[in-house]
Amino acid sequence: MLIVLHLVLMIAAVICLITGVGVAMFARKRKNWLKLHKAINTAGVIIGLAGAAMAFANVVTSAGNHFSGLHQRVGLFAILLFCFTLYLGFYSFKAANKIAVRATHRWSGRISLIAMITALILGLMMIGVL
Ligand code: HEM
Ligand code: HEM
Repeated sequence: MLIVLHLVLMIAAVICLITGVGVAMFARKRKNWLKLHKAINTAGVIIGLAGAAMAFANVVTSAGNHFSGLHQRVGLFAILLFCFTLYLGFYSFKAANKIAVRATHRWSGRISLIAMITALILGLMMIGVL
C-alpha cells in the first residue's frame, strides 16, 4: 500500500517538476512565468518529499535495508538536489552574487530533473512496468 502511494506521489511530483522547469525554459515570455515556476516547483518538491517518506516508511515496515539499490540511491540524490535547488531559487533574490547563485540554480535544477526521471524509469523497471 505504502509503495502504491510512493508511486502515485512520485508520478505527480515528476509531472509538476517537468511543468515547472518547462515554464522556465520555454515560457519565459509570459509575464507570470516566475510566479508559475515558483509555485509549481515548490508543490513538486513537497509532493516528492511526501512520496519519498512513503518509500522510507515502506522500508521500515518491511524490515528491509534503506537505499539498497540503484533506484533508491538515484532517488535520494534527486530529492536532495531538488531541495538544494529550491533553496537556491529563493536565496537568489537575496544573495550578493546573484549571477553565480542563479547559474548554480539552473544547473542543479536541470541535473535534478534528469536524476528524477532516471529514478522514475528505474522504479518502473523494478515493478516490471518497463
Ligand atoms: C520519480 C521518482 C522516484 C523517486 C525520487 C524515488 C525515490 C525512492 C527512494 C529515495 C527510495 C528509498 C527508500 C529507502 O530506502 O528508505 C525508493 C524506494 C523504492 N521505490 Fe522509489 N522513487 C521514485 C519512483 C518510483 C516508482 C515509479 C516506483 C514504482 C513503483 C518506485 C518503487 C520503489 C520501490 C519498490 C522501492 C523500495 C521500497 C522497499 O524496499 O521497501 N519508485 N524510491
Ligand atoms: C526544485 C525546484 C526548482 C527547479 C528544479 C528549478 C529549475 C530551474 C531551471 C532548470 C531553470 C533554468 C531554465 C533555463 O533557462 O534553462 C530555472 C530558472 C530560474 N528559477 Fe528555478 N527551479 C526551481 C525552483 C525555483 C524557485 C522556488 C524560484 C524562486 C523563488 C526559482 C527562481 C528561478 C529564477 C529567478 C530563474 C532564472 C534564472 C536565470 O536565468 O538567471 N526557481 N529554474
